[in-house]
Amino acid sequence: MTQGRKFTMPQHTEPERRNVFSQLLQSQILLLSPVLLFVALVSIGNAQPPDPARGQMLYENHCRFCHTSKVHERPNKPRLTRAQLRSIVNEWQRQEGLSWTAQDTADVVDYLVRTRYQRLKE
Ligand code: HEC
Repeated sequence: MTQGRKFTMPQHTEPERRNVFSQLLQSQILLLSPVLLFVALVSIGNAQPPDPARGQMLYENHCRFCHTSKVHERPNKPRLTRAQLRSIVNEWQRQEGLSWTAQDTADVVDYLVRTRYQRLKE
């Protein structure tokens, strides 16, 4: 039995402890910087201009089967702004559970604008 023997944790003195903490913080920042750089590069990558060919591919694969030619070509279709079209497309991809990125949605919007919504209300 270890009765009577009290184990005491080695204690850091106050200034020493603060020092260890700031060292830890510095090494965390050093470790994180490649991650931050990567995140920055990815967000720059996302700001690419929309790609209508990719939009067409996404649309044909995920949306077309449901849309008869009438849906987007009806004569009395409302004149939409690009922002309204974007929110409709976003709503559809959400309903379909597609988890599209903003880039995917922008590509499809661009494809639809070029092929079906030339008379956009800007
Ligand atoms: C379950 C069938 C179905 C699927 C899947 C579907 N849609 Fe639709 N969509 C419709 C119907 C029906 C309408 C017309 C009814 C309406 O205007 O709300 C419509 C309307 C729209 C409109 C508005 C058309 C207009 O001029 O008013 C847009 C834009 C659109 N869909 C985009 C998409 C996109 C992008 C996808 C793929 C992510 C998609 N839809 C998937 C059935 C579907």
